[in-house]
Amino acid sequence: MTLGFTLVGIEVGWAFVRKTEPLLSIERLTKRYGDLVAVRDLSLEIAPGEIFAMLGPNGAGKTTLIGCVTGLIQHFDGTVRVAGYDVRRDYQVTRQVVGVVPQELNFDAFCSTRQILIYQGGYFGRRRACERADELLRIFGLSEKASANSRWLSGGMKRRLMICKALMHQPALLFLDEPTAGVDVELRDELWAYVRRLREEGVTVFLTTHYLEEAEQLADRIGILNQGRLILVDRRDRLLNRFGTRWLTVTCDRKLPKPLKDRLAPFQVTFPGPDCLRVRYRGARDPERVPVVEQVLAAVRDAGMQVRSLEGGRSSLEEIFRNIVKRDNHPDAGAVVEPEGGYVR
Ligand SMILES: Nc1ncnc2c1ncn2[C@@H]1O[C@H](COP(=O)(O)OP(=O)(O)OP(=O)(O)O)[C@@H](O)[C@H]1O
Ligand SMILES: [Mg+2]
Repeated sequence: MTLGFTLVGIEVGWAFVRKTEPLLSIERLTKRYGDLVAVRDLSLEIAPGEIFAMLGPNGAGKTTLIGCVTGLIQHFDGTVRVAGYDVRRDYQVTRQVVGVVPQELNFDAFCSTRQILIYQGGYFGRRRACERADELLRIFGLSEKASANSRWLSGGMKRRLMICKALMHQPALLFLDEPTAGVDVELRDELWAYVRRLREEGVTVFLTTHYLEEAEQLADRIGILNQGRLILVDRRDRLLNRFGTRWLTVTCDRKLPKPLKDRLAPFQVTFPGPDCLRVRYRGARDPERVPVVEQVLAAVRDAGMQVRSLEGGRSSLEEIFRNIVKRDNHPDAGAVVEPEGGYVR
């Protein structure tokens, strides 16, 4: 299945979207469930056209945050604006602008796939809802199931149907709450391609995910939520550079002599094998990087060794995420991470 997509006319929500101001603006949002503070004093702005990934362990508050923005949760402290409109006071506008693919299935299990989409179009006063439904069913490879009862769809198909449903009114700001949980690898790749495509069409995407590779592949900016607090927001590349380390493994033609090991001692070096060394250094933009790699290789050459193989890599977002959350949960273990730049105030 290939995903082809064109906007059929501009729907009503887009009329409210101005390119110059944040599409989503959250100021000091706090949501309590009794004594539990699910989201605590959270401020964030999302610019039009960006893909923002919110990461966080189970129970961090991601779905609650989405609920507050999309109108599912009404009682919270703070202000949330979509395209400059207050989500509670001006909900008739903001609900036209946002679309949400919730974490849980939310369609009528007794309707056909196509009917579900047409009803959804009706809720939003969508013109030509039948055409739009057919278009989305085709894009998401569900045309054959158009008249099937939605209960008969497979898990992955149900998820696709949820995405179609959220797109019926052509939202300018799309929330995807764990969009690829339970979908197969092929559909996941297609969804990623589709998300990028939506962005090209000008749609702003806010996604939550536990697949950190997903955030690494897709997001322009990444936020990390932990116990209801937004502990970090940064551009993806800067996050990887700021918190990630790189490593280079050098395998030589023979056992490393002691003088060489001694010379390498000032660096962050380990020796995975008798003929092998691994040096860790900071991200690509680290001014120390070239000297470290050069000095290590120079030391190897000076010791009269020949290099058999070189292998390099960098820490994944997954490692970085785990580290940041661990440090946040146990501040004594290291410095608390300060948000830098981005839109966090
Ligand atoms: N309706 C509710 N009533 C009471 N507590 C709730 C309610 N909804 C969520 N919570 C609690 O709020 C906290 C945040 O939940 P939320 O669903 O927002 O987390 P999440 O980050 O989306 O987690 P996950 O990754 O598991 O989806 C959790 O402790 C949860 O139990
Ligand atoms: Mg959730």
